[in-house]
Parts: sequence; structure tokens; C-alpha cells
Amino acid sequence: MILDAIDPLQASQHIACCVDTLSQGGLVGMPTETVYGLAADACNDAAVATIFAAKGRPSEHPLIVHVADSHTVNRFASDVPEFARKLMQAFWPGPLTLILPRRPDVAAACAGRQNSIGVRCPSHPVALALLKECSKQGIYGLAAPSANLFGRVSPTTAAHVQSEFANTTYSGMPILDGGACSVGIESTIIDCTRGAPVLLRPGVLTQEQLEFACGQDVLSNSEHSRQSISRIEADFSYEIAAPRASGTLESHYAPNATVRLLDAQSLQSALDILGADAKHIAVYSRTAMHSSTPQIQLRHMPNDAAKTAQQLFATLRELDQPHIKLIWVEAPPDDAAWDGVRDRLTRAAA
Ligand code: TXA
Ligand code: MG
Repeated sequence: MILDAIDPLQASQHIACCVDTLSQGGLVGMPTETVYGLAADACNDAAVATIFAAKGRPSEHPLIVHVADSHTVNRFASDVPEFARKLMQAFWPGPLTLILPRRPDVAAACAGRQNSIGVRCPSHPVALALLKECSKQGIYGLAAPSANLFGRVSPTTAAHVQSEFANTTYSGMPILDGGACSVGIESTIIDCTRGAPVLLRPGVLTQEQLEFACGQDVLSNSEHSRQSISRIEADFSYEIAAPRASGTLESHYAPNATVRLLDAQSLQSALDILGADAKHIAVYSRTAMHSSTPQIQLRHMPNDAAKTAQQLFATLRELDQPHIKLIWVEAPPDDAAWDGVRDRLTRAAA
């Protein structure tokens, strides 16, 4: 059930109704600036189990806890390193998730029983309002993965969330409509449990912005694993090699149609060879393409990484119609600003 949270006259009433649902251990579709989340009380293990069941997500894949402000982090994390504080200061509220050591007494199910916890303060006004109202009722964190079935494309509108769960027992859950997400791809994830910042999932924040904010190098997951091999046993009790972030599984964000990444020239040549037979193909490219198939779906990708991120998942959903077997996408430029978009497209194509 979609509840208007854009109209200020209706928003507060609809948010109050969702706080009730959450207090009773129910699920709520929540807008954030990145993608829509499927929210439950992070400290209610039964409610958290419902999230895993609704998504069909393995329960060892940890969920992010959303908080109303940076002070609330101390309720979930046992330690916040200096560089993590600087990142929070620079980017919260906003599209950044920090993995921190978890207080052993809280949110174990939400964390997939790991000794770390992912925390994020979203900037979407509806998410912030919901989180503030929840705190008044003693709910200090909302566990929220992206509100899609496991492995599928993340939702960026309330209607996407509704269609994702339409044929499930969760079809009647309240979904707060906060409009289309402004960022469009999931938050950047930085692991802050390894002594230095390690990038687990790229988003719209560039490595340069992150390094400037925290005043030190941000390592990629593979760089860190290589550099720290000899230190793992001595310094850390964390499993570094394990696939701890489900968004980091090789195949993820996948539409039903097969996604292929091609450079502009190969894409045009392939369309030329197919001629009038390209009706089962959709194309999403920055470079203008030509096809002799009148029905072919040719969608223009903006030249700007942030604009592409904002529309990426909605475009993949639109192109993923039953008669479409292949979605051909022009590979993003080899430029840091495109890291988040490239990551999502590569996984969609895996
Ligand atoms: O933008 C976002 O982050 C969205 C919105 C709703 O906030 N949420 C989101 O959640 O993308 P989800 O569950 O689809 O992806 C969260 C990622 C997963 O890959 C998960 O494994 C990782 O965060 N994660 C969460 N807690 C973690 C932890 N303790 N250690 C390592 N990875 C963790
Ligand atoms: Mg997800």
C-alpha cells in the first residue's frame, strides 16, 4: 500500500502509521536518497528475520542499520575510529555506509551474527523524519536492505517496491512514497574495522572525495587483502576473504533479460549485422546508435555519471520487458566518477 509522504499534509500522518507498524515488528518500504529500503526495527530479531524472509536473502548477509544522527551510532558500534568520524562529518546525512565493530549486545540478527555492523544516516527528508519519530518510540535504528527480491534490481520509486512484492505475502505492506531517489545507486560502503578505510562497495562518492575527507588512503578490498595477508592473524579477528557484502557478489542487480556491456563500435556493428532481427534487443548507450528494426528500444544514457546513476535502475527495469531477451549497454567511461555505475552494470552483466 503506497502512502503519500511528499504532500506535507499527509506525510506526518503516514509516517506515524509506519512507526506503529515498525513498533509491532512489521515491515515498511522507506525512501532514501540512494534506493528504497525494506525497513524493520534493527533491534527486533523477529522483525529482522521477516526482512530476510521477504527478500529471500540468506540470513548471514548482514543488513545496514539506518540512524537519525551520528550520535546514535554509539548505540550500535563499540568503537568509532578517528577516520570514520571524519567520514561521518563530511558525508552524513548522505550516501555513505560505515562498517564498524558491533556492540556485542545489540542487533546480532541484523548483522548476520558478524562482530561488525553497517551504519548509515540517510539524507532523504522522509527517511530522516521516520527515523526521528521512531527514536521517540525507542526504536533507534532501522535495518533496511534495498527493497527488492534477492539478486534483483534495486527499486528507486515506491511503485518499484510495490511491484517487487506484488505477488508475495508482503504485498500489503505500507510503502512511504518520497518520490524518485535522487542518487539512484546504493551507498558507498567503507569498512572501518581493519585499522584503515577499505572500500567494499563503490557508490557516487569518489575515492578522491573520500580520501580528502578522512585525510588518508582508502584501499580497495583486493588491495587491502594483498597488503594485509601477513597481518591478518595477528591483528584481526575478522574474516577478510569471506563475501561479507551481498552487493559485492559477482552477479547481482540482475534484470530478467541478459545484460551485455559493449563498446560503442561493437554495439553498432552488432546492430548492423542483426538488421531487422533486433526486436528482442534493447540498447542503452551514450553514443547514438542506428538500427533498421523500427521497434527496437534505443535509450540514451547521459554523458554525466551522476545523472546516469540516478536513472540506471529505473531504466534497466523499463527495458526489462517480457519480449526483451538482451539489454546491450555501452560500457561506461574508464573514469573514477563512473566507478559506482560501472560496478552495478558489471554485476548486472555477470
Ligand atoms: O544505499 C543503501 O545502502 C541502501 C539503502 C536502502 O540504504 N541499502 C542497501 O542495503 O543497499 P543492501 O542490504 O542491499 O546492501 C547492504 C550491503 C550488503 O552488501 C551487506 O552485505 C553490506 O552492506 N553490509 C552490511 N553490514 C555489513 C557488515 N557488518 N560487514 C560487511 N558488509 C556489510
Ligand atoms: Mg541490495
